Amino acid sequence: MTKQFEGKVALVTGAASGIGRASALAFAREGAKTVVADVLVEGGEETVRIIKEAGGDALLVRTDVSKAAEVETLIQKIVETYGRLDYAHNNAGIAGADAPTADCTEENWDHTIAINLKGVWLCMKYEIPQMLKQGGGAIVNTASTAGLVGLEGSPAYCASKGGVIQLTRAAALDYAKAGIRVNAVCPGVIRTPMVERLVGTEAEAGLIAMEPIGRMGKPEEVAEAVVWLCSDAASFVTGNAMPVDGGDERGPVNRVAGSRSIGQGTRWETVQSRGVPVFRVRARSSFQRGYYLRQGIAVSGR
Ligand SMILES: NC(=O)c1ccc[n+]([C@@H]2O[C@H](COP(=O)([O-])OP(=O)(O)OC[C@H]3O[C@@H](n4cnc5c(N)ncnc54)[C@H](O)[C@@H]3O)[C@@H](O)[C@H]2O)c1
Repeated sequence: MTKQFEGKVALVTGAASGIGRASALAFAREGAKTVVADVLVEGGEETVRIIKEAGGDALLVRTDVSKAAEVETLIQKIVETYGRLDYAHNNAGIAGADAPTADCTEENWDHTIAINLKGVWLCMKYEIPQMLKQGGGAIVNTASTAGLVGLEGSPAYCASKGGVIQLTRAAALDYAKAGIRVNAVCPGVIRTPMVERLVGTEAEAGLIAMEPIGRMGKPEEVAEAVVWLCSDAASFVTGNAMPVDGGDERGPVNRVAGSRSIGQGTRWETVQSRGVPVFRVRARSSFQRGYYLRQGIAVSGR
């Protein structure tokens, strides 16, 4: 039986890990030649290896999506190797540092916006001319529920993901008549390496409690939405920001899902932050906050 993306070429950025890897595997499973772009070569090679072992065709191009010259080279290499580009999942992103708006550093702001927002724009800037030459294509950008609701301590991340949603809508209108559809997915709490370290700890129940559906999402569940948005089944869908979040973003924002006193006015808390759950300490004294911060644990109570 012919696979739905046979003869097509798909690009996935941030495909060395998590949602991006799941999306690359899903495109390959549907028959697309799949290009894996990431700053992490080892993880990217692993994604390519998995695809090839399953009988697919894949290529790794080490790319920093925040650098215009590298993104331009990426698209050139795709066209040189496979001759076309049909689908793009612009997914690479970082969480950035956790701090309230006035404490967010300029460095954190610039870095988060450069990868999460400018990176998505740069990818589209170089993908779209190739798709126009071919007469069409489909693009999916990874936003977040943090682009739909505000999250405490995440000004740059929320701004970047809200920006991705608006960028998606603008691009969708620019190219609707040219046969290029542009959509976004807004994942909720997804069990990727970002979240994995909390699984098996006492924070896990709190994480699950955040999701109305009763569990964290799987990267594969986001990947299936991406594949559907690129497929002909979604031929009348463009400019859409689709939550894939177990109902998460319909609930109260910034709720503390789990909390336990550990004495001296200090509590462990699990909260929703940047679209992902964060296990943190809420402490009244600056001494205690400094103590936990030095151990790499997020703190609150400022
Ligand atoms: N996991 C979640 O709960 C969740 C929720 C909402 C949104 N998201 C978004 O989903 C996307 C994927 O996240 P994930 O959870 O799979 O995390 P992840 O850390 O497993 O994957 C992110 C990938 O992006 C790559 N990357 C980072 N900076 C890059 C750059 N400058 N150029 C190229 N690649 C770069 C990383 O190396 C990594 O492989 C991100 O945009 C993230 O913001 C994740």
